[in-house]
Amino acid sequence: MSKSTSYNCSSCGHGHAKWQGRCAGCSEWHSIPDQPSAKMQTLGGVDLVPLAQVDQAQSIPVPTTVEEIDRVLGGGFVPGSVSLLSGEPGIGKSTLTLQLALRIARTGASVVLVTGEEAPAQVAARASRIHNRDIPESLFVLDTTDTRKVIQVMRDDKPQMVVVDSVQMLNSGEDSGAPGSPTLLRNVASQLSDAAKKHNVSLLLIGHVTKDGGLAGPRTLEHMVDTVLSFDGDRRNDLRFLRSVKHRFGPTSEAGLFEMVGTGLRPVKDPSARFLADRNPALAGSAVVPVLDGRRPLMVEIQALVRKSSDRTTLTAHGVPTGRLNLVNSVGQEKLSNMLSGLDALVSVAGGAKINDPGADLAMLLAMVSAAREVPVPATMASCAEIGLSGELRRVATMERRLAEAQRLGFTDCIVAPSCPDGPTGLRLHRAESVLDAVQVLMGISV
Ligand code: TYD
Ligand code: MG
Repeated sequence: MSKSTSYNCSSCGHGHAKWQGRCAGCSEWHSIPDQPSAKMQTLGGVDLVPLAQVDQAQSIPVPTTVEEIDRVLGGGFVPGSVSLLSGEPGIGKSTLTLQLALRIARTGASVVLVTGEEAPAQVAARASRIHNRDIPESLFVLDTTDTRKVIQVMRDDKPQMVVVDSVQMLNSGEDSGAPGSPTLLRNVASQLSDAAKKHNVSLLLIGHVTKDGGLAGPRTLEHMVDTVLSFDGDRRNDLRFLRSVKHRFGPTSEAGLFEMVGTGLRPVKDPSARFLADRNPALAGSAVVPVLDGRRPLMVEIQALVRKSSDRTTLTAHGVPTGRLNLVNSVGQEKLSNMLSGLDALVSVAGGAKINDPGADLAMLLAMVSAAREVPVPATMASCAEIGLSGELRRVATMERRLAEAQRLGFTDCIVAPSCPDGPTGLRLHRAESVLDAVQVLMGISV
C-alpha cells in the first residue's frame, strides 16, 4: 500500500495529491487548504482515507434555537446535510419551517425559502403574524418551481439553509420524468442534494404525504436523504408531534411536541401536564402510565372502551401498537377468569400521542378491566410494567425517571413489577407479581 497526501477542496470535497490554487473537481479558486486534510493510502490503485483522519467537523450540528427541533435532531441541522420533512397537507409544515427560518435568520445566518406553493406575499403575511418583531434581513424568499434556480442560489450565495416548500412543486428543467411522477421527484431531490453537499448548505425538503403514505410521494425519497422528519398530529386537537424517522447524525427516538395556536406553533413546555389536562378521573376506562418518549418521561392517559362482541372479538388500537394490545388482551383473557371474555375493546391514547413502550402494557389492561367493571382507577394511581406471556409483571427500563415524573404530576400510588427499584418519597409503590395481583391491588375486587 503506498501513501499519498490529500488536499481536499472545501467546496466539493475533491481530493488532490498536491496543493493547487484551483479545484480540479468544481473549478473553484482558493478552495483548497494549504495543509493536507488526511493521509490517503493507495491500495491497488484505489485511494483510501484512514477513518481516524476523517474530519468529524463535517457532521457537527448547528442549533436552530427552536428547542423542540434541536431535541429531535440531537442538536440541530448538520451543514451539507439533506432533511425531508413530511406530513399531511394542512398539518403545519409551512408554519413550522417558517418559524425555524425566522429563528435561524435572527442569528444573522442567511436562509432561503423556496416557495413554489405559496405566493411570497402570503409567506410575508404569515411571517408578520407569527413573528412580533422585524423580519430579519437575512431571510429570503425564492418564488420558483425551477430546480436549476435553487441550485444556482446554493452555488452563488451559499446560504446556511435552504427550505424547499414543497419538493413536489419543483420541476427539473430537463426531460427527466413526467410531472408529479416518482422519477421526477427523485431526480429533483438528487440534484438538490448533490448541490447541498457540494456547497455545504443545510437543505430541508418539505413533502406532502397522504394518509396512506402515497407511493408517488416523498416516501420514495427517504433512502436518499440524511434525515427524515415526520410531522403529525390529531386533527381534533392542536397538538403536533415532530419525530425523526431516520437520522444519520443522531437519535431517532426523540419527539418534539408543539401546539398550534393563533400565532403559529408553540413548543409545549410540560407535555405530561398537557396530556393529563382533560382527564376526568371519575370515569371508568382510563389509566395513567409514565412512558418513555426518547429520553423524556411522559405521563399519558390510556383509555379503553369495551362492549359485548357480536361475533368474533375485535380489538382496535389508536396510538398503541396493535400487537401489544393483542398480547395484553390474550393474557387478560387467559389469566383474569372471565373479566374480559366476549368483549370487543378499543384502546386509545388520549391527546393523539403515539406510544411504543412495553411499560404501558399494564395500563392498557387496567383501563380495559376498569371499563369492563365500570370501576374508575383512583385519581392519583398510576401503573407501569410490561406484561409477560404467563401473566407475570416485568420491570421496564428507566423506572426511576418514570416514577419521579409520576410524583411530579401529583400521583401518590403506582403499581409496578416486583423488581422495581424504590421511587421518590411520597410515591407508594405496589409491587405486583401478576396481572391478577395488579387488578386486586387496583380495585379490591375478588376475581
Ligand atoms: P400550514 O403550515 O400551511 O400546513 P402545511 O404546510 O402542512 O400544509 O398550516 C395549516 C394550518 O395551520 C391552517 O389550517 C391554519 C393553521 N394555522 C394556525 O392555526 N395558526 C397559525 O398561526 C398558522 C400560521 C396556521
Ligand atoms: Mg404548506
